Amino acid sequence: MRTQVCIIGGGPSGLLLSQLLHRAGIDTVVLERQSRDYVLSRIRAGVLEWGTVELLREAGVGARMDREGFVHTGTYLAARNRGFRIDFNELTGKKVMVYGQTEVTRDLYDARAAAEGTVIHGAEGVALHGLDTSSPYVTFTKDGTEHRIDCDFVAGCDGFHGPSRKAIPASVLREYERVYPFGWLGVLSETPPVSHELIYANHERGFALCSMRNANLSRYYVQCPLTDKVESWTDANFWDELKRRIPEEAAATLVTGPSIEKSIAPLRSFVAEPMRWGRLFLVGDAAHIVPPTGAKGLNLAASDVYYLYHGLVQNYQGDNEGIETYSQKALARVWKSERFSWSLTTMMHRFPDQSEFEQRMQEAELDYHESSEAAKKVLAENYVGLPY
Ligand code: APR
Ligand code: PHB
Repeated sequence: MRTQVCIIGGGPSGLLLSQLLHRAGIDTVVLERQSRDYVLSRIRAGVLEWGTVELLREAGVGARMDREGFVHTGTYLAARNRGFRIDFNELTGKKVMVYGQTEVTRDLYDARAAAEGTVIHGAEGVALHGLDTSSPYVTFTKDGTEHRIDCDFVAGCDGFHGPSRKAIPASVLREYERVYPFGWLGVLSETPPVSHELIYANHERGFALCSMRNANLSRYYVQCPLTDKVESWTDANFWDELKRRIPEEAAATLVTGPSIEKSIAPLRSFVAEPMRWGRLFLVGDAAHIVPPTGAKGLNLAASDVYYLYHGLVQNYQGDNEGIETYSQKALARVWKSERFSWSLTTMMHRFPDQSEFEQRMQEAELDYHESSEAAKKVLAENYVGLPY
């Protein structure tokens, strides 16, 4: 089999890149280890930067998002039982779209199927070869049969645990990581959201977040110790803890209900450099991870896709400037989003070994954001998404 771009990974990165390249007349094959249903069973964040919204529309997958998504012009931060609003529109002239990543992925799968795109599920033992030559190829097994795909380029969209990053020689690859000493316990419930906008709450018992998917599907999180097991959290315990951590006014109106999904996720900041080696390009979680506090995971994947898509189109038109500068351009934006996600995580969470001085610094940071338009503007421009 031969294709122009072999894409490893059928998550948001791989599917969006495949769909955009298809619309530019560039042939791709997507290799995904899991089934479509398994990929769509993953519950992930739900805030899209406007750059991501526009890229999804450019890919021809914006219709349901525009119908069912919620445009948000601000968010609330809360501490010491008091909330204050960050008005994105007033401060930056921009907004965000609340629309679940699962729905983005579903729309992308549907678009690839409608275009008869080649997405191979159940691809096992994917291995990358000849990346430092002009004839790279990928091998994999499906239903016990070995396959080989010859290609011009390989896009490693295979997430944090995939093979692509590991195909870069250890002598070349540099990795940077911070693991946070806590996790997020998340609950999805078929209940009306407690607020029309998100509430990020700093509390002495730990962080909490109130989010949503639609008018009758809410997403809530509480910070929890890394040693916690999800089965030790009853729904009742979760709701009680959430009510303790959000402002009383919100707690009083919170509609609780049975969890339809409940899970604990660890938090880490991670970046791998470079994001290109020979004919391999790393995209999305394969190259970087952010703590979910700033809702940057999917949005960073989108900006990587934007740079690579344009670089590959340019390359097939005879100009390789875009692919030559891909890693440098993508990393410049990645590191700024890593900074924002780390900074918001540090401001909003309780760290087990936090000193009294650090506690005072956190309180001062929150007071500064509540009282300074300049501080609000910095947070807003990072939250809605820095320019590509
Ligand atoms: N072979 C084939 N596919 C693989 C392999 C492999 N060896 N290893 C991983 N994959 C697939 C996974 O099954 C997954 O569907 O690659 C895909 C990677 O998707 P994601 O992990 O979702 O990463 P990405 O597409 O970059 O999207 C980033 O998704 O995980 C969230 O928080 C993250 O919002 C961010 C977004
Ligand atoms: C979510 O809705 O799952 C969500 C929203 C904002 C975040 C993280 C998660 O910062």
